[in-house]
Amino acid sequence: MLSTVGKTRVLLTILCLTATGLFYKSKWSLQPLFSLWLQELHVCNCQQCLTEGEHEFKTVIDESPKPFLSTQNPTSEDDFNWWKKLQREQRPLSFFNETVKKLFTIFPPIPEVEAQSPDRCRTCAVVGNSGNLRRSHYGPLIDDHNIVIRMNYGPTKGFESDVGAKTTHHVMYPESATYLDNNTHLVFFPFKINDLLWLLNNFTPQDNVQNPKMRGNKDLVMILNPTFMKYTHEMWLGKKGRYPSTGFMTVLLSFQLCDEVSVFGFGADTDGNWSHYFEMLRNKKLRTGPHAGMQEYEVIQKLHQKQIIRFFKGP
Ligand code: C5P
Repeated sequence: MLSTVGKTRVLLTILCLTATGLFYKSKWSLQPLFSLWLQELHVCNCQQCLTEGEHEFKTVIDESPKPFLSTQNPTSEDDFNWWKKLQREQRPLSFFNETVKKLFTIFPPIPEVEAQSPDRCRTCAVVGNSGNLRRSHYGPLIDDHNIVIRMNYGPTKGFESDVGAKTTHHVMYPESATYLDNNTHLVFFPFKINDLLWLLNNFTPQDNVQNPKMRGNKDLVMILNPTFMKYTHEMWLGKKGRYPSTGFMTVLLSFQLCDEVSVFGFGADTDGNWSHYFEMLRNKKLRTGPHAGMQEYEVIQKLHQKQIIRFFKGP
C-alpha cells in the first residue's frame, strides 16, 4: 500500500507527464504564447539589458538617486552644501529652492524619460570629446543608437565620419553652451545658482518676443540634480578629484535612460591631456583639469571588462 505522500508524488508525476505531453503535442499553437511569456521575463527587448545578467548591475542602478531635478526630486541640504563649494556659491538653500521653483514654471516639472519596457531596447551612445575620435570612423556606429548623447562644444558638422551626425541629447552648462535645434533634449548641468539663473533668463521671452539668445526647446529641458553629482563623486570615484567630469557624470546618467550603453570619445592623449577631436590643444599642461581623469577612465574600462557597457577607445 502507498502512503499519502507516495500517492501525492505519483499523482504529481502523472500530472507533469500529461502537461509535458500536451505541450509537445500542441507545440506550434503554444509557441507564440511561450515566446510572449519569455519576452515578459525580460525587462527590455535588447539581447542583454543593462539591468540583467550575472553582474547584478540592477542593484547598482536601483540604488542610484534619481538624476534630474523635479518638483518631486528636490536637493537635500546636505547635497546642496557639498555642491555650493564647487564654485564658491554664497547664497543659501532657500534662494536655490526659489530659483528651482521658478524654473519649473517654464520647464517640464518632471522631465520626460522613455521608460524601460519589454517591447523596446533603448540603445545609447555617450559621446565624449576626446581626440581619440579622430580617424576612428565611428560615425555610422554612433548614429545607429536610438539615443545619442553629446556634450559641451562637441560638434558634428565636418566630423560626421568619426562622430556621426545624430544628437538626441546635449549636455551643457552656460560656459560650454552651443546652439541646439528644436528636437534635441538640453541636459543642463548646473555648477552654481547663476547657471540656473542663466537658464531661466535664456528661456524667458522678453516683451512677448522670443529671446534671440534662446537655445533649444523648453519642453525638452532636463536639469541634473546636484545630488547626482555628489553621488558620482562619492560612490563611484571615492571622492577623488575636485568633482566628476561632465563626461563621467553623463556615462552614469545614461544608466538611468538606457538599456544598452556604448561609450565613445573618452581618454587622454599620449601626454595625459584631455585634448579634443575638434581643435588643437593649446594648453599643454591641461591634464584632466580638476577631475580624476585616470580614475574615471579606469571605471569605464572596468565596466567594459564586466560587459556592462561597450567602450570604444578609438583607432
Ligand atoms: O572637454 P569636455 O569637457 O568638453 O569633454 C567632455 C567630456 O569628455 C569630459 O568631461 C571628459 O569626461 C571626456 N573627455 C575625455 N578625454 C578627452 C576629452 C574629454 O575623457 N581627451
